[in-house]
Amino acid sequence: MFKKLAIGAAFALALAPAASLAAGGEGHVEDFAFSFEGPFGTYDRNQLQRGLQIYTEICSSCHGLKYVPIRTLADEGGPQLPEEQVRAYAKNFEVWDEELRDYREATSNDHFPESADENAPDLSLMAKARAGFHGPYGLGINQLVRGMGGPEYIASILTGYTGKEKEEAGTIFYENTAFPGGWIAMAPPLAGEDVEFADGHSNELHHEAQDVAAFLMWAAEPKMMARKQAGFVGVLMLTVLTVLLYLTNKRLWAPHKGKKQA
Ligand code: HEC
Repeated sequence: MFKKLAIGAAFALALAPAASLAAGGEGHVEDFAFSFEGPFGTYDRNQLQRGLQIYTEICSSCHGLKYVPIRTLADEGGPQLPEEQVRAYAKNFEVWDEELRDYREATSNDHFPESADENAPDLSLMAKARAGFHGPYGLGINQLVRGMGGPEYIASILTGYTGKEKEEAGTIFYENTAFPGGWIAMAPPLAGEDVEFADGHSNELHHEAQDVAAFLMWAAEPKMMARKQAGFVGVLMLTVLTVLLYLTNKRLWAPHKGKKQA
């Protein structure tokens, strides 16, 4: 037994340097504080609306959100735009109609379009496809409390440009401290003061990056709040059940315990 443990420990020690070396190739991800972190965290509706505005005015010229139905913008727990505003919003986009064999104005029953730039990945699931926290930070309790770090990764990419560029095989790459490998083919999409918010909220670069990252988290997991609530109710019910079973057990055994002569 001890021998097995010792061998296991030796293996773990031998592998550790390799793992940390691999981590060296990953970018630096800043730990932004989001309203939806933690077991009771919820999306901030105003933040989602600001993020939607940034996506619409800036990111959508290259990136699609093809898995997101436009009508969900009205859903509770999301940006929660009024229905008529969603209908008007849909008209920003054109979608391909199989029956018409032509493009037409989108309606709220359509999904957001696909990426307009074929090199720009679709952003529907990006906040769940990327993990900002690796190693011990991405594990266990920490992950439960702070998530996988997808939105932190996105916000870090948007704020991680150093200003350096290089050209390779006809493509321009931009140095970015958060992007694995350090060079990304996306020109800095935000510089700060890129949009004007109706609510007068700060449009400083860090705020814009965080708002659009929050919106993309919602796009990737629109039911996060419902899921957390269901989980909480589940734990509560299990706790009540545990107490009841404990009391029942005590009561059942009471006649046989502590009464020597019975
Ligand atoms: C001019 C086109 C363009 C605009 C505008 C643009 N992007 Fe990109 N984006 C790209 C391209 C191209 C890539 C692929 C880069 C690569 O793989 O090196 C990319 C990659 C990304 C990635 C993925 C990084 C990864 O891990 O693969 C994220 C996240 C992203 N963009 C977010 C955004 C957000 C948010 C906005 C709006 C604030 C935005 N982009 C605006 C072109 C654009």
